[in-house]
Amino acid sequence: MTGRFYVTTPIYYVNGAPHIGHAYTSVAADVMARFHRLAGDEVFFLTGTDEHGQKVEQAAQAAGIDPKVFVDRVSADFRNMADAMAISYDDFIRTTEPRHITGAQALWQKVAESGAIYLGAYEGWYALRDECFYGEDELIDGPEGKKVAPTGAPVDWVKEPSYFFKLSAFQDKLLELYESHPEFLGPNSTKREIVSFVKQGLRDLSISRTSFKWGIPVPGDEAHVMYVWFDALANYLSALDYPNPDAPRAAFWPANLHLVGKDIARFHAIYWPAFLMAADIEVPKKIFANGWWTIEGQKMSKSLGNVVDPRDLAKEFGVDAVRFFLLREVPFGGDSDLSRKSLITRNNVELANDLGNLCQRTLSLVARNCDGIIPERRVLTESDTHLLGQVSVLPELMAAQLERCALTDALEDVWKVIRAGNAYIDHQAPWALRKTDVERMKDVLRVLLDALRGIATVLQPFMPQSMDRMLTQLGVEDGERTFAALETLIPAGRKLPAPQGIFPRYVEPTEEPS
Ligand code: ME8
Ligand code: MG
Repeated sequence: MTGRFYVTTPIYYVNGAPHIGHAYTSVAADVMARFHRLAGDEVFFLTGTDEHGQKVEQAAQAAGIDPKVFVDRVSADFRNMADAMAISYDDFIRTTEPRHITGAQALWQKVAESGAIYLGAYEGWYALRDECFYGEDELIDGPEGKKVAPTGAPVDWVKEPSYFFKLSAFQDKLLELYESHPEFLGPNSTKREIVSFVKQGLRDLSISRTSFKWGIPVPGDEAHVMYVWFDALANYLSALDYPNPDAPRAAFWPANLHLVGKDIARFHAIYWPAFLMAADIEVPKKIFANGWWTIEGQKMSKSLGNVVDPRDLAKEFGVDAVRFFLLREVPFGGDSDLSRKSLITRNNVELANDLGNLCQRTLSLVARNCDGIIPERRVLTESDTHLLGQVSVLPELMAAQLERCALTDALEDVWKVIRAGNAYIDHQAPWALRKTDVERMKDVLRVLLDALRGIATVLQPFMPQSMDRMLTQLGVEDGERTFAALETLIPAGRKLPAPQGIFPRYVEPTEEPS
């Protein structure tokens, strides 16, 4: 059964340059989008940039340029990063675009009409780095005896007139949502944190600011700009041309999946559904939070100078090896560390050896012993059927894993089959059959070609560029690469191109003796 699938990444702040953390969530969302396209769903995959707020305004000031010029530049860099990482977004939304401003203001109005917004004055702690208001009781002891946010971000005492959203009125409804829709929020660690936060009681939320200008004016009161999170969350609707109910994209709501980092789970799992409930709009079906990457054991930070640009890694190792590493290294949802050593090991062991060699061995045997022509599929032995059976259930198996955002488990499912393929080729030894039983050799090679086709097909969402090359090597044409196409065998007799390695082994350049 096919359907619609709407998946989003966070829209990234343009106060800093894109790094591997941003690429991570985008790659994960990209895998989901590509997988659903291969399954025949109608997909809408949204990413973009979050360009308003005090933090961005200050970054522009620090750079000594006009905010609009600044955000244009950094947003273009995020887009470039997405393209470089093969992110197949259908739309890239920027919160400075007129379509977004229209959507955000319409949402505000709808929430206001419900009676959930009132004018008051805010007095409390604000962490600029997190663009988040914190309660006194949430603060923790920081360096030099100062109170800081639970994230470690410095806080300032803010006092200004403000519009408030009656978040407190939504506590029970939110708890009911988490309870009645256990799949709404994941992973479980994040869910536990959010549920206990909500159970402690919710304070009304300040949703406008008057102390700076770089934001969307509050409808009817232009002395205020919207709190950047009200503005930002609205992107998921404004990209669907909200509030126009007749827009073709409107049918994609509710979103199937908002992928976010665990740092912003609170905004997505508490504020966002509450805004939507107030506006009488359906809530998204699922929010899933990915874990945090450190670099060689350290927090990534400008001051440490260890911020990793994914484009640099991609240049060195190839886009797909980086994408693979990010999703393979740690169960999706957990925290992980990026180290050069483990990236190289994953590349050499799992890509170059396990998958690359299996493909290369098969293709060179076909080239040498079958004139590079795909042999016929004839009678199958029990071990042939066993291997092909494992391959044929992969799309379904992986769909179930992806449904619960278990991207790493989905890869593990494929690697089990790849390892089975390696055991099969070693056991069948087609290179020996060449001398004893040529017909059986051909049968074995045909089984391997079919197994590799299935494997490459399901791996396309993870490693689109190398799987494109692999499928071409296997003689699989463009129209034969969907899950549905796997039902039909590739006809025998096709001539394969000369075999070429898909995944080169990475060898560290030898270091100068010191
Ligand atoms: O929060 N490890 O934008 P942002 C893993 N504009 N993921 C990381 C990461 C790391 N070290 N660093 C960043 C914002 N991320 C808001 C979002 S959405 C309506 C508005 C990823 O530029 C992760 O997905 O700070 C995190 O949630 C996101 O980048 C934060 O990006
Ligand atoms: Mg951030």
